[in-house]
Amino acid sequence: GGRYKIAVLPGDGIGTEIVQVGVAMLEAAARRFDFALHFEEAPIGGAAIDATGEPLPAATLEQCKASDAVFLGAVGGPQWDALPSDKRPEKALLGLRAGLGLFANLRPARILPQLVAASALKPEVVEGVDILVVRELTGGLYFGIPKGIFPEKKGGRRGVNTMSYSTFEIERIGRVAFEAARGRRGKLCSVDKANVLEVSQLWREVIVGLAPEYPDVELTHMYVDNCAMQLVRQPRQFDTIVTENMFGDILSDEAAMLTGSIGMLPSASLGSGGPGLYEPVHGSAPDIAGQDKANPLAQVLSGAMLLRHSLRQSEAAQAVEKAVQTVLEQGYRTGDIAAPGAHIVGCRAMGERLLAAFEG
Ligand code: NAD
Ligand code: IPM
Ligand code: MN
Repeated sequence: GGRYKIAVLPGDGIGTEIVQVGVAMLEAAARRFDFALHFEEAPIGGAAIDATGEPLPAATLEQCKASDAVFLGAVGGPQWDALPSDKRPEKALLGLRAGLGLFANLRPARILPQLVAASALKPEVVEGVDILVVRELTGGLYFGIPKGIFPEKKGGRRGVNTMSYSTFEIERIGRVAFEAARGRRGKLCSVDKANVLEVSQLWREVIVGLAPEYPDVELTHMYVDNCAMQLVRQPRQFDTIVTENMFGDILSDEAAMLTGSIGMLPSASLGSGGPGLYEPVHGSAPDIAGQDKANPLAQVLSGAMLLRHSLRQSEAAQAVEKAVQTVLEQGYRTGDIAAPGAHIVGCRAMGERLLAAFEG
């Protein structure tokens, strides 16, 4: 049972290609597990700029608010790069995250056994990696004020962004991270730059203050530069990582490569009760867009997260994840996760293989 409304925002570049595969998998999951999905597509990013002049049209945001979950591809592309930051496709993502109050971004980097050889790192380094990056998503350097490009009195200009967090913002992302760690292996590493930044000193103080409420979680701290290094040196030391918005953006792309390709990494963005947003961690990949080369698995796995977190259809989520493992087991690979002896397929063919594995 159950009827759900899903806002589908394909966006730009490979976004449209991978979302088709993702939606087909969600439809298959609904058929098999007997619930109803109603998909409504809306423009976002460059596509929305071209159609309406705005990267995030008000109607798109309203439609998302009225949905049970939002399923997004990716936005951006070179044709919109010269626009001022307010008018750029990327602004739509920030507007959507802020507009829906999605302060917690979960980015699980788990290496599937079938892909150990596809990683750029040695198999003995990446084997067994299972990390959850909890990225704060509506504060920090992306949103702090003052921000802008300002004229200087003595001539020239100054570009400004501000990394700022309130105790309230740190506490609520901290709680999400402690809870997540509790449901995993009970280890939480808070990543900051407290040796230099006051904002990080407050971050650390507030996180430390929460720890007594989670005695079953082992809390550690790490500076962000060291974390970037440790992630490739010995990634298995990490379980759950919690960090500031931009630190999390950078570290999660790095963590993605542990799993073989950024084309494998899904994400869930959650707030307090409203619809969640599900999108791959990667971007619109203009270098391969329109060539049927994109890896749709991050999108499909984001669909599994949607089923689990927003629709509470955990069996369906597991079945989708299992289909992903099955196609990899069968040796099907897009170019980014190619392996010797594999069947290299395009985005669409990968989608067909997934459906066959799911229904077979
Ligand atoms: P990107 O993630 O789009 O691409 C980086 C590299 O990874 C490229 O070589 C690309 O071909 C490859 N890649 C990414 N996803 C892939 C997939 N599914 N299958 C195979 N290969 C894949 O990052 P970028 O090149 O820095 O940015 C391109 C555009 O995307 C920019 O406009 C950027 O602002 C935007 N962007 C959007 C999002 C988002 O919508 N969430 C995220 C990151 C970047
Ligand atoms: C991501 C992207 C976005 C971010 C950009 C495109 C705004 O890189 O989702 O990781 O920095 O959050
Ligand atoms: Mn990013």
